[in-house]
Amino acid sequence: MKVLVVGSGAREHAIVVALGRDPDVAQIHAVPGNPGIAAQARCHELAEGIDDGAAVAALAGRLGVDLVVIGPEAPLVAGVADAVRAAGIACFGPSREAARLEGSKAFAKEVMAAADVPTARSHVCATLEEVMDGLDAFGPPYVVKDDGLAAGKGVVVTDNRAQALAHAAQCLERSVSPGESAPQVVIEEFLDGPEISLFCITDGQTVVPLAPAQDFKRLLDGDEGPNTGGMGAYSPLPWIPDGLARDVLTRIAEPTVREMAHRGTSFAGVLYVGLALTSRGLRVVEFNARFGDPETQVVLDRLRSPLGALLMAAATGTLEAVGEPGWHSHSSVTVVLAANGYPQGPRRGDAITGTEHVPAPAYVLHAGTRRDDGGDLLSHGGRVLTVVAPGDDLDEARERAYAALDVIELRGGQYRTDIALRAARGDVQVPAR
Ligand code: AMP
Ligand code: GLY
Repeated sequence: MKVLVVGSGAREHAIVVALGRDPDVAQIHAVPGNPGIAAQARCHELAEGIDDGAAVAALAGRLGVDLVVIGPEAPLVAGVADAVRAAGIACFGPSREAARLEGSKAFAKEVMAAADVPTARSHVCATLEEVMDGLDAFGPPYVVKDDGLAAGKGVVVTDNRAQALAHAAQCLERSVSPGESAPQVVIEEFLDGPEISLFCITDGQTVVPLAPAQDFKRLLDGDEGPNTGGMGAYSPLPWIPDGLARDVLTRIAEPTVREMAHRGTSFAGVLYVGLALTSRGLRVVEFNARFGDPETQVVLDRLRSPLGALLMAAATGTLEAVGEPGWHSHSSVTVVLAANGYPQGPRRGDAITGTEHVPAPAYVLHAGTRRDDGGDLLSHGGRVLTVVAPGDDLDEARERAYAALDVIELRGGQYRTDIALRAARGDVQVPAR
């Protein structure tokens, strides 16, 4: 099988590494890829960019690939999967219509209501008056979300009503391009309890959960600082109740996939279920239409069964035949090394050294990196790279991940030092009912 992976982050690098372990994958291409991916796959530039469906489909055709795997949300929401499928090539990733589960929080809420999926109560607001009513209905802590895509940065959780209102006002003032609907904000009830990410692979009918992971969304240790795309992750989660994945499957993922099919907008790809384990039970925090970054780095590190076959089956409606994925029993920790100034204004062009000295079995996955003309590695984005480390338990995986970061130099680079720490200590608790 020949595969084209679309994207340039550490998530896509992790996908390329996992595909590389699948004996049935003969050739891997990436667009645009990154310097780390280039060590394992042929990277291609695309002048039109990866959100241009016709251009991605034409590239896939020229390369003669059997499967296109779309990593990030923007090309999905732009309909790249539709264009690839229209060209007769199998594609892992939902259609533009189905990707609205991620692209619009209001739409996701509507689908959850129709499918009877447990989630935070919410008000979708188009005016500041509606926002004020919503805030006062739920009380603090206030949760204010931009309706549209915001790369993990559109959500504000605060006890400060003025700050909540200011964020809502900013979302509502956002300019919209022609054809886009008017800006909306979603005001939600606050969910207590730890969050987890569960990726559910689906062909539109059969749904298969992967191993659960936990992400760290805030920039700083102790869950302080602004929300980011994610600063680290680990898997497995020793503290979750038995049977959780099954519960999520039957109460959340399957009803959602059924509801999407019923609407004529069948969802095939990965349904990323972001969940809170609250004192009142499971609640969906968000759906995404793609693999999470950085959770994918640890989930795929633990995947024992072939990734190519799984993604191909999801893309071609044959998931029922592949069965449950197999897992390694080891623990895995990933830590993101971010650029100076991330997330507000990441600085680019800082030298990165030491990545080749990372002690095995830890390894480096590239995200925002590039090589200059002399072949030196430079930072080129907010999340610059992630280290991934397996271990017999979370303690060992953590030690190895941080030992790897010790040998990497990036001027002004930032990373959290407490990824998986509370879980390793047995300090994560699901609130009592
Ligand atoms: P989202 O983009 O919807 O995933 O939100 C980003 C982050 O904001 C989540 O991972 C949570 O940490 C936090 N968050 C979102 N919704 C809620 C909520 N209803 N209650 C508490 N925290 C939330
Ligand atoms: N790690 C969170 C996300 O991918 O949205």
